[in-house]
Amino acid sequence: MLEEEVYQTIGEDGFHRLVAAFYRQVPGDDILGAMYPKDDLEGAEYRMRTFLIGRFGGPPTYIEERGHPRLRMRHLPFRVNQAARDRWMQVMTRALDETQLPAEADAILRRFFDGMSSFMMNS
Ligand code: HEM
Repeated sequence: MLEEEVYQTIGEDGFHRLVAAFYRQVPGDDILGAMYPKDDLEGAEYRMRTFLIGRFGGPPTYIEERGHPRLRMRHLPFRVNQAARDRWMQVMTRALDETQLPAEADAILRRFFDGMSSFMMNS
């Protein structure tokens, strides 16, 4: 399966369930809870969801609304060290486990998140 085909396979619903499962864990997390905007978690969830949908072959809503992702730059305001990176990946792994996506799509997403979360480290 190509990366662009993930959206065809899991649809809006698959991304919705995955990202919701991630953000459900954020407020109670001792590292991530302090980093994400408490008063706009829904907004953060929406940005992540639309980004992933566009990245994996769905409608380009994120780019239309936010421009080029430039994710490393957008993360510079946050201190993403090894501990934050590992926790983020742990929380996303739990979200993937819970969401039970079809195996091929699941594998593509896990590989993507693993690489991207390391790429996002800035301290
Ligand atoms: C490595 C650990 C990471 C940490 C600690 C982290 C933390 C954050 C925080 C605090 C925000 C601000 C929330 C908001 O208001 O949007 C954010 C935004 C965002 N993050 Fe991460 N992030 C990490 C990794 C990633 C990865 C791996 C991806 C992509 C797969 C990602 C995608 C995004 C996106 C799309 C946004 C919204 C950017 C925008 O349009 O403003 N992040 N992240």
